[in-house]
Amino acid sequence: MRPDTLRSRIFLDGGDPHEAQQALAMLGFLDGQTTNPTLIAKNPQAKKLLEKGQKFTREEILNFYHFVVRELSALMPQGSISIEVYADLATTAKDMLLQAEKMNGWIHNAHIKFPTSAEGLKAAEQAAAGGMRINMTLCFTQEQAAAVYAASRGAKRGNVFVSPFVGRLDDRGEDGMQLIANIMKMYAQGDSHVEVLTASVRNLGHLLRGLQLGSDILTVPFTVLKEWADQGLPVPGRGYTYDAKGLAPIPYRDIPLTLNWDQYHLDHDLTVKGTERFSQDWNALIT
Ligand code: E4P
Repeated sequence: MRPDTLRSRIFLDGGDPHEAQQALAMLGFLDGQTTNPTLIAKNPQAKKLLEKGQKFTREEILNFYHFVVRELSALMPQGSISIEVYADLATTAKDMLLQAEKMNGWIHNAHIKFPTSAEGLKAAEQAAAGGMRINMTLCFTQEQAAAVYAASRGAKRGNVFVSPFVGRLDDRGEDGMQLIANIMKMYAQGDSHVEVLTASVRNLGHLLRGLQLGSDILTVPFTVLKEWADQGLPVPGRGYTYDAKGLAPIPYRDIPLTLNWDQYHLDHDLTVKGTERFSQDWNALIT
């Protein structure tokens, strides 16, 4: 059962409808799901095929992704299902948009994921202007989040998510949860049309801190949801203290939300590495 004091929406981070079914049964609710190429590659059916030494054709892998998100959408018809466009470092905004339009037609409740890069933002600007629901992924800085805000100005609240990746910042010694706090503080100066979706959640501490901060959405792997459920779905109040375990603080920066998206500094090595990894994981599925 959804706790009365829960203000955030909870998504499952995964690529397996069977796991989504289990999560729904375990929590009694789920507000949506995020997928990505790596998570689709980890889907048990995809893994089984690869273990047999087989691969998908380009058409088959898209059909498979379509099948997975259709199942997820049927499980969470009122929720949101994030579908990620294929993007390597050479993929153009035009190509991403073409993919996005197709994927958006797969289900009625899609949010289309674009990387928070210059090409990704160019595509997202057009997609959002046309009313498509979008989720900007691989966000690692406050400036990138400001660019997402600027690129989607005018969009309806609920149509735009930004996904800061906390675990990947932690992995290199930076306090990812502080980026969430910083983005939320920055967005408080704005019109709230972008929702903060805490992603790359690795442990219960991330989830509890995200809830305490009031992150609009958190996408959480099944194992962490299970830990949360085992503890009775606690929603921490002001008394909770997050243990950043000595991670380096990420200072807040005063960044105006009034510029055009391409006036913000967009580069981040983790956005590049993340794009490379997603595209490699996807290509490894294809003959
Ligand atoms: C979800 O939208 C993200 O793709 C996901 O949370 C990334 O998590 P990871 O950093 O554990 O791969």
